[in-house]
Parts: sequence; structure tokens; C-alpha cells
Amino acid sequence: MCGIVGYIGNKQAYPILINGLKRLEYRGYDSAGIAIFNGDLNVYKKQGKVQELVNFTKSKNTQGTIGIGHTRWATHGEPNDTNAHPHVSGNGRLTLIHNGIIENYALLKEALKKEGHTFQSETDTEVLVHLIEELQTRENLKIEEAVRVALSKVIGAYAIVVIDREDPDKLVAARKASPLVVGIGEDEFFVASDPTPIAEFTQKVVFLNDEEIAVVTRDGDLQIKSIENEIQNPFIQELDIKIEEMEKGDFEHYMLKEIYEQPKTVADCMRGRVNAAEGWIKVGGVDTCKDRIFNANRFIIAACGTSWHAGLIGEYLFEELARIPVEVEYASELRYRNPIINEKDVVIALSQSGETADTLAALEMAKSKGALCYGIVNNVGSSIARLTHAGSYIHAGPEIGVASTKAFTGQVTLLSMMAIHLGYERGTIPRSYYLQLLEELENIPNKIDRLLKNAQKQIEFIAGEIKDAPNALYLGRGYNFPIALEGALKLKEISYIHAEGYPAAEMKHGPIALIDENMPVIVIATNKSAYEKIVSNIQEVKARKGKVIAIVKEGDSIIREIADYTIEIPDTDEPLTPLLSVIPLQLLSYHIALMRGCNVDQPRNLAKSVTVE
Ligand code: AGP
Ligand code: GLU
Repeated sequence: MCGIVGYIGNKQAYPILINGLKRLEYRGYDSAGIAIFNGDLNVYKKQGKVQELVNFTKSKNTQGTIGIGHTRWATHGEPNDTNAHPHVSGNGRLTLIHNGIIENYALLKEALKKEGHTFQSETDTEVLVHLIEELQTRENLKIEEAVRVALSKVIGAYAIVVIDREDPDKLVAARKASPLVVGIGEDEFFVASDPTPIAEFTQKVVFLNDEEIAVVTRDGDLQIKSIENEIQNPFIQELDIKIEEMEKGDFEHYMLKEIYEQPKTVADCMRGRVNAAEGWIKVGGVDTCKDRIFNANRFIIAACGTSWHAGLIGEYLFEELARIPVEVEYASELRYRNPIINEKDVVIALSQSGETADTLAALEMAKSKGALCYGIVNNVGSSIARLTHAGSYIHAGPEIGVASTKAFTGQVTLLSMMAIHLGYERGTIPRSYYLQLLEELENIPNKIDRLLKNAQKQIEFIAGEIKDAPNALYLGRGYNFPIALEGALKLKEISYIHAEGYPAAEMKHGPIALIDENMPVIVIATNKSAYEKIVSNIQEVKARKGKVIAIVKEGDSIIREIADYTIEIPDTDEPLTPLLSVIPLQLLSYHIALMRGCNVDQPRNLAKSVTVE
């Protein structure tokens, strides 16, 4: 949620900040603002997209070589110009941007009001800048010290960057629970929520840890302290982010580009990890803690949203192939229960961003209970990747579209590899089946490619047929049940059509009441086991005049006879089916959203990285 960017160096800050905000816009996009210091502090804020801010600042003074910028995803106070960040202290000396929530803001605000502070906005953030000002003036503190003391009084989550106009050759940044990374360039520093605004200038970064405060200065100094005032040794990392990966290229939307990237991203996820010809599979993270994983009593998968759906597929995979009991939990629920977790459990966190606040908190809780924590993450260096004992990156490259697509197939690929590996090593699948699955895994990228080429026209046509429906139902059984949930989520989030995913057999227990001639029912019917059952479920829908769109295996003539429309996908082994069956649903929601005139990459109310609870 929300994107933060800061710059100090010899270049003009404005283009760097605006470009950075555009890159970060996928994190939040209800308003945007910048502050640039040039003898005077110029602050410009605008409701709406970054482009509104660009238009607004065209005739303004944007000179200066130090500045901060923010794209907001409102938590406290509606999205408008006043509530947009940066916020300025009462005496005009400090300006601050913030990602997160200050939970005790109301108490602090009351106390500050009594000290004579007046507030302009409805945000929790503004309290922070007044509090820092209060401590700075009352105790005559340097800005970094005032920030440190103020943060010790704050409850909640924050990533902040502050400029002090009386001490203007430095940026002060701090984080707790919300991400922040410092980029180290030649005579310049960057600060940002993630590396996307930084990567084109430098690949050298330091990811801040919780409760750390960084001070970067114009003369090239970087100092990191803990909130307890202890000097920390910065751990400098080299990124490997290519600019093309962050661009749309020839595609109209990031989401479409990311859907079409999947043959490559799935192959990248397997690179160096699977070799069918030589009969091996290697998942590095698993091998580093082999004993605990192999002898675990159970796996608990914690995640949110699309990643949670991938987790459900993990449950089917681990149970069937490796005979390991699995529970899949919404991280937001798990963290606030008092779950029975111990050192015999392995908790697997699935997260594209590696920054989702609930997943992070669930993991911290599991860690404190002694479980082995394993991360399956896309963003390199992210908080979850750093918190876990071991883990695997899915190597999908930056995912910018708010609706997750290639990260999902990356997660499912990784879970499939883990389950096949564990199943073989634990002796729960025979070598012949193991080798068959390895070969089939290697075939998946080509099959996705074929599917994308062959099904595109038919999917667009079906999208046109059902785009005006107010509701949609998605049904699937077994491995395709989580795909029904994922298909429904994709449709909801980008086209705003109400959609529900259900296990196909559950339909009879309620949702069947909704079916009439206006209800599109998308049935994922590629199953080998329970094929007849799903055919019966389709018949039940047709008997009530529902409009059936069936995802079927190539050459399926039985369902073609009954369904209104079919989309064919290549055949594969059942445990690997989700890697193919999800693709037409991603494309279907994309085309429906497009036809309805929706903003595919930045759907209303959503943000890519949910770093608040
Ligand atoms: C996906 O389309 C959603 N936008 C959302 O559900 C997402 O999957 C969820 O917020 C989890 O994010 P994460 O994978 O970065 O943890
Ligand atoms: N809580 C702050 C606000 O509502 C920051 C939100 C964000 O992270 O964008 O302004």
C-alpha cells in the first residue's frame, strides 16, 4: 500500500520522483504528492493518479536536488488534496511521507492539540509530523534524534521519510512493518518502498529492518541506527532487476503482458531445479532444512488472496504426492487465533510481494512458537524472504498488474516441485510416476504457450457474450476447486462483476438457487478423476437454464455437446492441471474488464502490496 520515494544527490529530484511514483503507482493510486527543497520547501499534492500531479506541477517551481514523493492508498481520511502526502509540520519546518497506520494516532492527536498543534488533514500520518516537530523544538533535537524518540512513542506500522528544512542536506527514513529500501548510487541516495524506482540508477541497495532509522546525506554518508539508538551495520545487496521487466513493452496493460509472460516465468521458476532427462529435482531451500521438512508433522500454509488460492493447491499436492497433512490458513485469521503450532510444524508463507502485513505477522507468530518458517516469495529481499528460516524465490520478475497472474503460476510451480520432490524422497510416489511428473513439468511452459495462442479468440468471444452479467459462478472439483476461487477473484477485482467460486458438488447446497438464464457458470472440467461427476454438475446447471462456459481438455466432445461454450486446454497430469486451467480464466477476466471500460492494471480500491492490516 502506498509508494514512497526519496532522492538526495546532484541531479534534479523532480524527474526522479515523478518517474519513481509512476513505477510505484501500482501500490496505491488515490492521490499523489511531492516535496522538493530548494532553499524553500515546495509541496505539491493532488487527488487522483500521478498524471494529475504532473499536470498540476507543470507551471510550478520544481527545482531542487532533494525531495520526497508519495502515492497514497488511503486508510484514514478520504482521498483528497489535503489528505494526500507529504504532510508538513505546524511550524513548516518538517515534511514527511508515510506508508502504514499509526494506531494510537487519536491519543497522540489529543495530546498534541493540548500543546497547541492544529491539524489540516484527517490522516493518522499528520500526527507523526507534529509529534516529531514537538520533540524537536521542545528538546532541541537533531532531526534524526527527534524521529527516533517520536517513533518510540508510536504504535502501528510505518515506513517514513522526512526532510528538515533547517538541516536540508539529509533524508531521514525509518521503518516498522512497512517496507523501505535505500539505494546507494554514485554521490546520491534513493529511498523507496521497493526497488522499482531505484533499479535504473543503481542495483546496490540496503533493505531496512524493522525499527531501523537510516540517515543519508549529500556528502555520501549512510548511517543506520536502531530505534534503541544502536548503530547497525548496513548489509549492502546487489539487485538483478532489468528495466525491461518493469516496462509494459508492446502490451496494452501490465496484466496482459504478465499473462503472456507465463511460459517464460514458469520455465524460469524451474530453471536449474528440474531435470527430467537426468531424473532429478532440486529445491534449494528445502535441502537447507531437509530433516525438519521431511519429518514435519504437518505443513501450515499461510497467505492472503491469490496466494491463498495457490496455497489450497499446495494442500492437494502435498497430501496426494507426499502424504503430508496440510492446513491452509488465511494469514489474517491465523495471526489473531491462538493456534496450536510447535517445532514439529512447518509454516509456509506464500506471497508475491513478500510484504503483506498479515502474512508477515502470522509468520512472526509461528516463528515465536518454534515452527520452521519457509517462504515462497517473488520479490527478492522482501520482508518475508528475510524473516523465514529458509525459502524459495519463484523468479517471476516484477509483477506490476494489481491482479496477480504470473506470480500465481510461479507459486503453484514451486509447490508442485516441492511436493514431487518430497513425495519421491519420502517414498510416497513410485519412481515411474516421479519421472513422468518431471517430464510433464518440463512440458508445461510449451503447453501454456500453445494454450495462449489457441484459446485467445474463443476467450475474447465468450467475454463479449457474458460481459454484461451482474453475477458469475465458478465451479471446479479437486485441483480445479482453488482455480474456481481464483477465477472468481480475478473477475471481481478487475471487472467489478460479483463472482463466487465453489466446489462443483457444493452447488447443490445453496448456490444452485441463483442459477437462471442470466447466470454465466464457468466450470473447470478438465478432471480425469470425477469426470462423470463434473459432467453431471454441468447437466444440473443446464437443467436450470444456466449459461455454461466449460474449460475442457483438448478434444473433449462430451462436454462440448452440453455446454454453451467450451475453451480447450492441453491435457496434463492431474496434479499439474492448475498451471494450465487458470490461464483462460485470467484472460477471460482481462477481456471482460477491458470491454467494460475498467482500469485493468489499477482496479478501484485495491493496491498491489497490502502492507496494512
Ligand atoms: C491478487 O490478484 C490480489 N490483488 C491479492 O489477492 C493478492 O494476491 C494478496 O493481496 C496477497 O498478496 P501477496 O501475494 O503479495 O502476499
Ligand atoms: N495511513 C496513511 C493515510 O491514510 C498512509 C496510507 C498509505 O500507506 O498510503 O494517509
